[in-house]
Amino acid sequence: MSSSTTSTSTPQKEIVVLKSNHQVKGLFTLIRDRETKREDFIFYSDRLIRLLIEEGLNCLPFSETNVTTPTGATYNGVSFASKICGVSIVRAGESMEAGLRAVCKQIKIGKILIQRDEETARPKVTYPRNQIYISKEEEEDKLPADIANRHVLLLDPMLATGGTVAQAVEVLLERGVKEENIIFINLVAAPEGIRFFTAKFPKVSIVTGEIDSNLNDKKYIIPGIGDFGDRYFGTE
Ligand code: PRP
Ligand code: URA
Ligand code: MG
Repeated sequence: MSSSTTSTSTPQKEIVVLKSNHQVKGLFTLIRDRETKREDFIFYSDRLIRLLIEEGLNCLPFSETNVTTPTGATYNGVSFASKICGVSIVRAGESMEAGLRAVCKQIKIGKILIQRDEETARPKVTYPRNQIYISKEEEEDKLPADIANRHVLLLDPMLATGGTVAQAVEVLLERGVKEENIIFINLVAAPEGIRFFTAKFPKVSIVTGEIDSNLNDKKYIIPGIGDFGDRYFGTE
């Protein structure tokens, strides 16, 4: 655990929760307020996403590296020890791509399209499994070809029932990614979703901004944010 985080112990892998301070709480207050205008919602969400991504990078393996500073002295440092890529769960996860690109130059970012059914809240994988709409060749283009050899930063701001992220992990495992090489980066999580997801995939690392109270009968997170994708992309 890094010094800038607190953690919740589970029988599975540690869940990293962004350390709450006045700045982080203030940003969450702004984006949770239903009166916040779209422009501000995007601006303050982006700031939180940037913090989450930096925290997600902290879950990656490092190796020790020495460098010589301009004074001629040695600095005992570390460097990244693995290849990485991003995968966003379309659509809301796409809001996190710019933040990832801002800190990881030229990172490859794949996409998986999963939408919750508005009535049942069950996830439906449209892409890559729906062969009606795409060919095999197109399917392979949407995730880096060498994804099995990479650590994957999986992006989705909302973890409600956990059904969507669980489906996304299934897709990654089918492509040969190791479960322990997946880091799920998330803004707001519900305890029900965390329990469901960690029971299914105990080796996936989770980095989240805040863990909320519960789900309502429509499977929305309480107190939550509302529909993140609609607020961010202006489709309310
Ligand atoms: C939202 C959100 C997650 C999912 C979380 O997406 O972005 O992907 O719901 O819910 P779950 O944990 O219960 O599966 P949604 O399908 O509403 O579409 P969007 O990304 O287009 O907003
Ligand atoms: N998706 C959202 O955007 N918000 C929720 O509360 C649940 C799913
Ligand atoms: Mg989504």
